[in-house]
Amino acid sequence: MAIIKAIALEKAYHTEAEQVYALRDVNFEINPGDFSIINGPSGSGKTTLLNILSGIDRPSKGELYLDDLPIGQFSDSARTEIRRDKIGLIFQSFELLPVLTAAENIEYPLLLQNIRPSERRERVAAVLEQVELTQYAKRFPAQLSGGQKQRVAIARALVTKPAVVLSDEPTANLDSETGIRIVKLMLELNQKHGVAFVIVTHDLSLNQYAKRIFQIKDGVITAKEGNRC
Ligand SMILES: Nc1ncnc2c1ncn2[C@@H]1O[C@H](COP(=O)(O)OP(=O)(O)OP(=O)(O)O)[C@@H](O)[C@H]1O
Ligand SMILES: [Mg+2]
Repeated sequence: MAIIKAIALEKAYHTEAEQVYALRDVNFEINPGDFSIINGPSGSGKTTLLNILSGIDRPSKGELYLDDLPIGQFSDSARTEIRRDKIGLIFQSFELLPVLTAAENIEYPLLLQNIRPSERRERVAAVLEQVELTQYAKRFPAQLSGGQKQRVAIARALVTKPAVVLSDEPTANLDSETGIRIVKLMLELNQKHGVAFVIVTHDLSLNQYAKRIFQIKDGVITAKEGNRC
């Protein structure tokens, strides 16, 4: 069973001057264990796609299923609750809360889920170790490098044990060597823990790590030839 299944998704934005089609006829599936990369230039619809696949935003047309539930039709609060449980999100600009330490940022989604304190502590410690940030737990975001902030964002996405992590341009703010290390870390987490990853990026050098590669252009998604599965 697919974790997320999108059928004929369309997203139109209405501005005063015109109607912008950010997504057109998108058919896309995320399956358990996936490690998919979607390439697309700036403005091609990558962030729009992740916002809709995660249920942050609603499509203008089409259907979206999360674990076979038709979440496109759900209320905002119902979508938020399901997203919290099933999906980890890594945003284009990290979105860490500046007044919280690394550990507190990572703990935050667990507070929203009403997880008890002892389990929160255990889970935060476990993911900090997975992203090799244990020694930076008490630092604030402003005291961390870009790569370290990105690892905090990854840990925060993983701490709720989601079936899938959606990541928006994970290497855009990093030098190329750090970017490759971040993607290798995601691949390791995929292989060791079975978490599915979908990464959207304009950076073609990441494709070598993907199990499946797609392209998005003007809001249209196509699979690239040579996909391994
Ligand atoms: N709220 C909005 N209102 C109107 N148009 C929008 C809105 N948000 C996005 N768009 C338009 O939708 C298209 C896709 O935008 P999106 O942010 O998804 O692109 P992207 O691929 O993530 O770009 P980048 O690589 O620069 O982050 C763009 O043409 C953009 O101008
Ligand atoms: Mg974007």
